[in-house]
This record gives sequence, C-alpha cells and structure tokens, in this order.
Amino acid sequence: MTKKVMQYTRPRLQGTLTVPGDKSISHRSVMFGAIAEGKTTVSGFLLGEDCLSTIDCFKKLGVKIDVDGTNVTIESNGIDAWQEPSEVLYTGNSGTTTRLMMGILAGTQLHTVMTGDASIGKRPMRRVADPLRQMGAQIAGRENGQYTPLAIQGTQLQAMDYTMPVASAQVKSAILLAGLRAQGTTIVREQEVSRDHTERMLRQFGATVDVTDGVVSFEGGQTLTATHVNVPGDISSAAFFLVAGAIVPKSEIVLQNVGVNETRAGIIEVLQQMGANLELQIDDEQAAEPTATLTIRTSPLQGIEISGAVVPTLIDEIPIIALLATQAQGKTIIRDAEELKVKETDRITAVVDELKKLGANIQATDDGMIIEGPTPLHGGSLKSYGDHRIGMMAAVAALITDGEVVLDDAECIAVSYPTFFEHLAHVVK
Ligand code: S3P
Repeated sequence: MTKKVMQYTRPRLQGTLTVPGDKSISHRSVMFGAIAEGKTTVSGFLLGEDCLSTIDCFKKLGVKIDVDGTNVTIESNGIDAWQEPSEVLYTGNSGTTTRLMMGILAGTQLHTVMTGDASIGKRPMRRVADPLRQMGAQIAGRENGQYTPLAIQGTQLQAMDYTMPVASAQVKSAILLAGLRAQGTTIVREQEVSRDHTERMLRQFGATVDVTDGVVSFEGGQTLTATHVNVPGDISSAAFFLVAGAIVPKSEIVLQNVGVNETRAGIIEVLQQMGANLELQIDDEQAAEPTATLTIRTSPLQGIEISGAVVPTLIDEIPIIALLATQAQGKTIIRDAEELKVKETDRITAVVDELKKLGANIQATDDGMIIEGPTPLHGGSLKSYGDHRIGMMAAVAALITDGEVVLDDAECIAVSYPTFFEHLAHVVK
C-alpha cells in the first residue's frame, strides 16, 4: 500500500476525456459470451481488476477468452461444454462477479468453489443464495451461505416468482441467469427498478424477455447466441469528473461516449436539480445501451433531497455526490440508501468520516446522510478502506482543499478505473 500525496494550487479543469468501459456491462459481456454458443466479440471492455476477475473465473471453467487491449473475444460451446474447475474461482473485490456467478453456476452440472478478498468475505451472499435455493440450488458457505468461500453443486433448477426485498441488480441478475437453466417461467418483481443491463443483454443475445411495470419474466431453457457487445463508458467513472468539473472553479470538461441508460443515470438528474451547468448530447438512443457526450462547467449549486426511486439509479455515485453537496448552498439530504452499508465498505461511515476530516459539515443517518454547505475543505490524511470509489472521492476532494490530501491506498482505484490519475492529470491545468 503506497501513500498518495495530492496537492493542487488553484487548479482549473479543462479537456476532453473518454472514460473506460462500464464495469457492470463488461462483466456481463464475458458472462453472456461464455454462456452463449459461438464467438462473442466485445469492444470497449473495462480492464479493471474486477472485470479481469470475471475473465479469470471463466478461463478456469475452460472457456476460451482472448484480451487484446479493450477488445475481448469469448469462444464457447455453451454451459454444458464448461469443465469442472480443479481450482477455486477467485472473484477478488467483485460483488458482481461473485453474485452473478452464483446464479450461473447453480444451474450447471459442475461443482465449484468461489472466494474473494477480505471485503468480499464480509459482504452478504444469502440475499442471492436464499432465492436460488428456492429454485433448488445447492449452495454451502460460512454462516449457511452468507459469506464466502461458497461451494456450489450445480443441479437442475425450477423457475420461480420472486419479489425483490431490496433494490439490487446483482440479486435480480443472479436469479435471471439461474432462470436461463430453470424449468418454467422465471418472474422477478422489483418495487424499485435497479439497473437493467442483464435484461438488455439477454435480448441482445437473442432471448425473449418481457419487462412490464417492474416485472421481468422469461422462459427457461432459451439458448443464447453469440454476438457483438459494444461497452459504453462507465457513468459511475464519469461521475468523478462531472463533480470535479462542477465544483472546481473555471472548469469545463467534455466526457465522450458515456452510458446514459436511465436505470443508471440518476447522477445527471441530481446535477441538474442542484443547478449544475451540464449539457447532454445523446449519440444513439436506439443502441442496446444508449450513450451521450456530457459537458460540465462550473456553476453555483443548491442542496437538494435525494430519496426514493432515484436512489438505485445512482447508488454507486453517492460518495462523490456527498462531496458535491459540501459545495452546494444549503442542505442536501440523502435517504433510502441503507444499501451503502453493504458495498465494498460501509460507504455511509466511510464517506462521513473521511469528509469530516476535511472540514465538511456532514452527518450520518440510518439510511443515508445530511450535508450542509458550502464549506471550504482543508487538507488531511484520508483512508480509502480499500474501496475504489472512496479513493476517487478523496482524489477529487484534493482539487478543492487548501492543503495536501494524503490517501492511504490509492491502488484500489484500479478495481474500476485503472487510468484515473492519468485522466485527472490530463484535465488539470
Ligand atoms: C451492480 C449492481 C449494484 C452496484 C454494483 C454493480 C451490477 O449492486 O452497486 O456496483 O453490476 O449489477 P447491488 O446489486 O448490490 O445494488
């Protein structure tokens, strides 16, 4: 773990960036390519550590995967051609890999063991194991399948009708992927809609999926056909530069090819409501995953309330939104975001503790936080908790602090944005 010292004197941000590929879609492109029969090609793949963990797991299952820059090729003869791995599948820091793989592996004929890093070892897995067990899955793990390592004995699954107790695309996707191998019609009912990349990609690979009023249903036994997946830029990565451009004086940043799927784009709504100077130019609305060019310029901001249905559409952006709110006039209240407690770290505690160290007026609540601004921020020594998004929040904060910010473990940022500091250097003038 190397310490990163960040100090800027009255920076101004200017320039054009193309942020790396979307993490959620990159994971799914490899998973779907491995399930499908034929040769799947992917462009714009994110070479972050999380997505490389997904590739590594499928290689251990005998799937042929080639990586050439951000182009990835996956050749598979379908799930029944996978091999039982002699090694443990290592999912690193990736909740998406771990949870979606549970759904995929449950319906194979293979015995597999999965484990990840220390953070994964603390994240709840029964939210996936329990519904999968209702479909007949055989999953064992610490505390009755709550924690990794997990052992999965693949078996024939039965479809089910499941009402989601929390808004989680990982849980929904695990059930849908299990449903591919289940007998009957799998139905997932969401009270609040979470990101829908899995549903979109099922269609892209030739499956028939019905989505009506938050109810997803589809027939088991459908085979997927290899195709080409074009991964858009990750709006969750773009978010750090959107906020930086909004709060660092005299800035203008253009972000190209950003995925703006409405189930992910809550940060755009928040910036607009806060009064940010944000321009949005949609490239192709008909694409499987629509993209846009976003231009952000510095402007005065007002505090707002963020709660309800918008929360799942910006859940990963809350750390950086909290920093944004420290520079807005008045109170920003974030509610209905308990899920932050079970991310890579407890992001309510991490965000509040670290921003307080810089002088922010921020309080934790049971389901979110309250921030009162604007407050000038000072330098300080910050922890990332091994969480990439807390690390990037600290780096953006350093642009507006009056002293240096020292970050304990900046390497963790490579989980989702390995070129983050290069991109930052590119726009700092
Ligand atoms: C993801 C879903 C979200 C998100 C995570 C990626 C996905 O998690 O926080 O970064 O790719 O499906 P939850 O399903 O836990 O909300």
